[in-house]
Amino acid sequence: MSGSSGTPGSGIGGNTVKLLIIALALVLATPALPASAHPRPPRDLRQLAQQTGVKIGSAVDIAALRAESDYRRVLNREFSHVTAENAMKWESVEPERGVFTWADADALVENARRNHQQVRGHTLVWHNQLPAWLTNGVADGSIDATELRKILRDHITTQVRRYKGKIRAWDVVNEVVEDDGTMRQTLWLTHLGPGYIADAFRWAHQADPHAKLYINDYNLEWNAPKIETTFALVKDLRAQGVPIHGAGFQGHLGIQYDYPGDWANVMRRFAGLGLEIAVTELDVRMVLPVTPEKLTTQATYYSRALSDCLSVRACRELTVWGYTDRHSWVPGWFDGEGSACLLDENLAPKPAYQALLTVKRPR
Ligand code: G3I
Repeated sequence: MSGSSGTPGSGIGGNTVKLLIIALALVLATPALPASAHPRPPRDLRQLAQQTGVKIGSAVDIAALRAESDYRRVLNREFSHVTAENAMKWESVEPERGVFTWADADALVENARRNHQQVRGHTLVWHNQLPAWLTNGVADGSIDATELRKILRDHITTQVRRYKGKIRAWDVVNEVVEDDGTMRQTLWLTHLGPGYIADAFRWAHQADPHAKLYINDYNLEWNAPKIETTFALVKDLRAQGVPIHGAGFQGHLGIQYDYPGDWANVMRRFAGLGLEIAVTELDVRMVLPVTPEKLTTQATYYSRALSDCLSVRACRELTVWGYTDRHSWVPGWFDGEGSACLLDENLAPKPAYQALLTVKRPR
């Protein structure tokens, strides 16, 4: 017998060739996996948002947006969603009665349009940052309840109409429940009664029927009395057919406190009422000085917040309350605390930024 099969170890035999051909055929016949099945690690937060399907936003400091080109560049590179930190609040847009100052809010909305960012409007009804003409008028009795109701209706209608079609979601009412679970005794509640909340949503809906309308609050991540009252309030509004579409969890956290471990369940409860969910003002502060250990802990808080959001289908947005320690409300409000943002004062990414890029949607 000559040459029909090689001796073991002396070369490639016929069976081996067949096997190789079959293997090659299998490889060629296997359809390529869609790119999304094995996505490359995201390069930045915009890509992370694309890959996870959750919009990733930042609050915007309008003065910095105007004056600092590096701030502007990073904001527009990283974020596909933005919220005005102060520029859409009542004292900003109507500092004197009937005198509207839209320049800052307009600039933010225009910058968002140019950079393909969606916008969260913040905020229509709040007890803070109201113009003095309004609070003084109510205090001295020159604005009575009937007029106050008309003023609120006009404010909501004017502002929502101005940005109709340009604001994805509005924080319609902000912080209406106290930490002890009672309704906050704001000038709105004490002068207009509890119906002002339903009215506010209805007026906003009339002005822009496509905007998602949110109730927004802090400590809603963990505080049981606040959760229960807010839940009952939303349930009641939904039962009345009031156009409320979302619950916003501000998410002002600090590493000196435990991470709110039940947060995803709370999100799920609100989602069960038919609501969209958003983390609207995430930041994670620490007692100074900054140490590598604290930054590592901070990174776990940020990534857990995103994981929690991703674990709830209805959670559509995660917005940070400022993206850089150069412009953060924290040091001005909490003595001895700071470093709450994803990027440092020089816009260098901190471990929290890197940690966010590794978070994946659970399968
Ligand atoms: O605009 C004035 C300026 O003219 C003046 O010179 C300066 C002196 O203090 O104050 C400036 O106003 C400050 C304003 O921010 C704009 O920068 C106020 O003092 C300051 O109190 C105000 O703080 C804002 C705070 O809301 C007011 O309640 C923070 O920037 C803003 O980050 C913070 O945001 C809130 C959300 O809207 C709701 N959830 C909580 C969150 C953090 O408090």
